[in-house]
Amino acid sequence: MTASIRLAAASLTLAACMGLAAIAQAKPLKITLPDETATFKPGTNREVVMNNCTACHSSDYVQTQPRGPKFTKDFWTAEVNKMIKVYGAPIDDADVPKIVDYLTENY
Ligand code: HEC
Repeated sequence: MTASIRLAAASLTLAACMGLAAIAQAKPLKITLPDETATFKPGTNREVVMNNCTACHSSDYVQTQPRGPKFTKDFWTAEVNKMIKVYGAPIDDADVPKIVDYLTENY
C-alpha cells in the first residue's frame, strides 16, 4: 500500500519536473501562414459573389464542384437557391441572376 503511494508521489514529482523543463525550453515561435489561395476567379459580378458567398465557407466549395455539361445554369441556379432556402443565406433577389451568371460563366 505504502509502496504504491510512494510510487505515485514519485511520478507526480517527475511529471512536475518535466513540466518545468518544458516551460524552460519554450521559445517564442514565429509562424508564417500561407497566403489565402481559395479565391473566386476574376469576372463580371465577382464582387457580388464575394459579398454574398464568402460568409459561411470559402470559394473552395464552388471550385470543387463537378464540371461537365450537366453543371450549367440550372445547376448553379439550384445551388444558389439552396444556399438561400436551406442554409438561410441572406441574398437579395436582385443579386441572384448576377451570381448565377457569374458562376455559369466561370465554373
Ligand atoms: C448562410 C451560409 C451560407 C452562405 C451565405 C452560402 N453558403 Fe454555400 N453552403 C452553406 C452550407 C451550410 C453548405 C453545406 C456545407 C456542408 O455540407 O459541409 C454549403 C455548401 C455549398 C456548396 C457545396 C455543394 C452543396 O450543395 O453542398 C456550394 C457549391 C456552395 N455552398 C455555393 C455557395 C454559393 C455560390 C454561395 C453564394 C450565392 C453560397 N454558397 C453562400 C452555407 C452557405
